[in-house]
Amino acid sequence: MTYENLLLETEDRIATLYINRPKALNALNQDTLLELKEAIGAIAQDDSIDVLIITGAGDKAFVAGADIAYMQNLSAMEARSFAALGQQVFMMIETMEKPVIAAVNGFALGGGCELAMCCDFRVASSNAKFGQPEVGLGIIPGFGGTQRLTRLIGAGMAKQLLYTADVIGADEACRVGLVNSVQAPEELMGVVKATAKRILAKGQVAVRLCKAAANEGLQTDINRGMTIEADAFGLCFATADQREGMSAFIEKRKSNFTGR
Ligand code: CAA
Repeated sequence: MTYENLLLETEDRIATLYINRPKALNALNQDTLLELKEAIGAIAQDDSIDVLIITGAGDKAFVAGADIAYMQNLSAMEARSFAALGQQVFMMIETMEKPVIAAVNGFALGGGCELAMCCDFRVASSNAKFGQPEVGLGIIPGFGGTQRLTRLIGAGMAKQLLYTADVIGADEACRVGLVNSVQAPEELMGVVKATAKRILAKGQVAVRLCKAAANEGLQTDINRGMTIEADAFGLCFATADQREGMSAFIEKRKSNFTGR
């Protein structure tokens, strides 16, 4: 599949999806969101892919936000639909069974920060910059920023960033828990791919059940979360991976998971 505003590379069960509008710092317009929706749907269904990495084309931006030129003259109802589309696509990424890692290689502002936040976790290049600059444009975040930032880094720090539109560097983003680590720009993709490979070496049914249980647990109280976990734990015992993983441990050999 070829896209106008995306690039997709697949190697060794890892897909790398580039948002590819470098001249506009990879800003998300409606066409790009529609392509992203199609690509995420296809990746979710593709049995040859186990881990997805999302990054930005070029060396300057992950995604510099929703496309301001596209949004400038939208009516209220059109803007509402645009937000709903972005939210829908980002929710597809968040709830996709396979793990998704954001490799943040530059500006991750507005919709870019929101795209990074719907991924399972984020690794940043040292030149990455994060923020929700929307109030400086007289609008608020529309692709989940007011919801995910508060959940991810806590209400106090999230509200400070939302109200001030301050842009923070990679080290500060790491300090507040927005990203897991900061890498030299030339090492970012290598580190993210090595992390993806460590995930790939494990039982993929179990990895996906971890994601589902963690995500569902975040939406509910801890008692319900424990039930979700126990159910998913039980389900693991219906898999070949559980038998292989435990046999390999007992037999003191490396496990050979099949993802079944
Ligand atoms: N939308 C549309 N075009 C954008 C863009 C965006 N979000 N961000 C950058 N661009 C374009 C610029 O217009 C410019 O295009 P031209 O060359 O045709 O003039 C090109 O990308 C390069 O950008 P700059 O010349 O501005 O590059 P810079 O290095 O001087 O500055 C920047 C980089 C600080 C990221 C600056 O571009 C900027 O502030 N961008 C906007 C960031 C922003 O406000 N994002 C939030 C958007 S609102 C949103 O996302 C709402 C939502 O939640 C749904």
